[in-house]
Amino acid sequence: MCGIVGYNGNLDAKEILLKGLEKLEYRGYDSAGIAVHNEEGITIFKEKGRIADLRTTVDSEVEAHIGIGHTRWATHGVPNRLNAHPHQSASGRFTLVHNGVIENYHLLQKAYLKGIPMQSDTDTEVIVQLVDLFSKEGLSTVEAFRKTLRLVHGSYALALLDHEDAETIYVAKNKSPLLVGVGDTFNVVASDAMAMLQVTDQFIELHDKEVVIVKKDSVEISTLDGRVVERKPFKAELDASDIEKGTYPHYMLKEMDEQPSVVRKIIQQYEQQEELAIDEDILQAITEADRIYIIAAGTSYHAGLVGKEYFEKMAGIPVEVHISSEFGYNMPILSEKPLFIFISQSGETADSRQVLVKITEMGHPTLTVTNVAGSTLSRESDYTLLLHAGPEIAVASTKAYVAQVAVLAIAAYVTGKARGVALDFDMKQELGLAANAIQSIVDAKDVMEEIAEDYLKIARNAFFIGRNIDFCVALEGALKLKEISYIQAEGFAGGELKHGTIALIEEGTPVFALVTQEQVALNIRGNVKEVVARGANACIIAMEGLEEDGDTLIIPRVHPLLTPLVSVVPLQLISYYAALHRRCDVDKPRNLAKSVTVE
Ligand code: G6P
Repeated sequence: MCGIVGYNGNLDAKEILLKGLEKLEYRGYDSAGIAVHNEEGITIFKEKGRIADLRTTVDSEVEAHIGIGHTRWATHGVPNRLNAHPHQSASGRFTLVHNGVIENYHLLQKAYLKGIPMQSDTDTEVIVQLVDLFSKEGLSTVEAFRKTLRLVHGSYALALLDHEDAETIYVAKNKSPLLVGVGDTFNVVASDAMAMLQVTDQFIELHDKEVVIVKKDSVEISTLDGRVVERKPFKAELDASDIEKGTYPHYMLKEMDEQPSVVRKIIQQYEQQEELAIDEDILQAITEADRIYIIAAGTSYHAGLVGKEYFEKMAGIPVEVHISSEFGYNMPILSEKPLFIFISQSGETADSRQVLVKITEMGHPTLTVTNVAGSTLSRESDYTLLLHAGPEIAVASTKAYVAQVAVLAIAAYVTGKARGVALDFDMKQELGLAANAIQSIVDAKDVMEEIAEDYLKIARNAFFIGRNIDFCVALEGALKLKEISYIQAEGFAGGELKHGTIALIEEGTPVFALVTQEQVALNIRGNVKEVVARGANACIIAMEGLEEDGDTLIIPRVHPLLTPLVSVVPLQLISYYAALHRRCDVDKPRNLAKSVTVE
């Protein structure tokens, strides 16, 4: 989703901004731009498409040491050059980049900006015009900025340049992520620490409705009413090499390959005196709950569905799983002692955050399961369980899903033990075996490539079926395929297909069937027969011990509860190769964003 960078120092701002934007590319965007400020004034370069396209428009002759930059994922107005940020006020005095959505921009425009011609279709432009208007009324820039922010409803991360002050970047945030990075002779702004690791690993967290004056040798944070806030920087625990592709052609491939080591790392991180353990406070919060409500979006929602199986089967606690964007309007009747678990790779998903804000107001305990320490959801919930998966850059989530499932398995297992549930297996050992099983699948990429070729080369659509826990994985398999290859794909409970969707099966329609659960193996095979009888091209992925002659792929045997960790991996790889065959941009699929920071 939209990304912001800013630089104020002594070096070539253009290059630092462009490099920073390149590091934010993974979030998803459709246009980009930068504005730099020097003695000649503010110069804006912007372009539809990729940063590489933007680079071709940037005049290398322009020298500047201060500037702001933006990648835009269109919300208001189509992706084109005009709607790309930065936006400038009509007088040309103020230049702004914005991430988020201004809900009342229409009202503000009508109330304050009649007669001012708008250059774009964006909500953002209203902010920059208002700052200009209020400064013309005699307010200082920071006061005009504050006055504007007091009027605005919605989410924003903002960086503003003033033509009359070549030394300052004005920054503010509400609900959308933004950090200020600090250095000895410079300071920077970034939606995500990754963008500015090129110059610093020291960052200051910003809270909602704070305004920051970023000079090259000082950072001053204050509230909307002008109260100064002191806050120390933290060190971003990121290794620059973690965010490089190395010799891999795509981040997605690298991240799928990392999955065995991610599971092993999680075992280590959650081990205390040779036993799996989670923080005592978290364990207490879970054991005290009479019902768990899991809230998540996208792939994390699919991990949540698996998490429900875990908490119910291993810990004996009832669980509901909800799509975060729906929960706000459709809140179920809550139990007496609920615990809310938010699952989010990025920890920034706005849909999930709006639920967290509501639930916190209601006073219920909250736990976030996330990959990003210090992310908004982590900071704002009572407890955090970290995924320890390392940065995930490819838009399509792979290793984070596996990490989410593994961490949920550990949390449920430890809770079950604490509640005295008879669990006759050693989770640590079983997770180790699952890591080995994942390894054997990522080592057999050629097989997945062939399957992709055989089943998906000319497919227009595809179905994924499974029963029980395999159904949860079927949903994730279908999501992976559609996200990166644009083949229309749906996941179904095996028994459900015949209640309607089987009408879509024609000669050659690919149907991927998962067979990892003994008690439903015969039923799912029955469903496969139903679709094959109607012409489907069935790809059966069965677990060792449940295989039959003619199955397409046999995956190693693991504990029946841990099969999602393993069975998802061939589906990820098959999607990857299907996308490659179609020459799709695997890491940056069209229209998608890695971290969706608008509701
Ligand atoms: C976006 C991404 C998905 C991700 C979802 C939830 O839509 O493209 O890959 O699953 O957001 O993100 P989260 O960071 O909350 O897990």
